[in-house]
Amino acid sequence: MHVVIETERLLLRKFNAKDSPLIYDLNLDPEVIRYTLDPIKDIEQARQVLEQVILPQYKLYHHGRWAVHLKPELEFIGWCGLKYIPQRDEVDLGYRLKKDFWGKGYATEAAQACIKYGFEKLNIYRIIGRADPENLASVRVLKKCGMNFLAEEEIEERLIMTYEIINLFGC
Ligand SMILES: CC(C)(COP(=O)(O)OP(=O)(O)OC[C@H]1O[C@@H](n2cnc3c(N)ncnc32)[C@H](O)[C@@H]1OP(=O)(O)O)[C@@H](O)C(=O)NCCC(=O)NCCS
Repeated sequence: MHVVIETERLLLRKFNAKDSPLIYDLNLDPEVIRYTLDPIKDIEQARQVLEQVILPQYKLYHHGRWAVHLKPELEFIGWCGLKYIPQRDEVDLGYRLKKDFWGKGYATEAAQACIKYGFEKLNIYRIIGRADPENLASVRVLKKCGMNFLAEEEIEERLIMTYEIINLFGC
């Protein structure tokens, strides 16, 4: 297991090419993709997401969406991490957990660790987070990570709230 970040309760590791079933199963739950609207129709599509979206980020930017495992059994509970968006020249914080693990502070714990890693290890200056205004849990996680509200934007015909956090001690 290629562990990148360890927190009190979690391990965050790089996904690898064998992880398509994990991505597929996570996105199967309609409640998990309620606000992200990105169903994955089969394992083949999950493989494409892994190989074309998730894995290249690690090589190009030294960060990405990382698999989140719960200690001590190391059960896979979802993903969290950073993603560079070239069209906007922005680093985005994202997270997605299996429903059984919601409401226990895991997303916040993972997200805070990802921001710290981005700032301290990668010297990233600014990280943004976006959420549907109705996705109250996600908005709350952004706030608990110390992110500040920046703007309400229309993206692909949907209203989205953008939050940001600046690395005041780096760069
Ligand atoms: C968003 C998500 C990752 C949050 O995970 P989580 O582990 O439950 O988050 P945490 O427990 O760290 O924090 C959630 C916070 O939101 C709050 N919350 C949850 N549901 C809420 C609701 N309906 N209204 C208001 N607050 C809510 C919780 O009370 C908690 O805040 P608190 O610690 O102040 O009590 C999880 O819901 C998820 O995977 N959703 C599906 C994927 C998704 O939408 N990702 C974000 C895309 S922008």
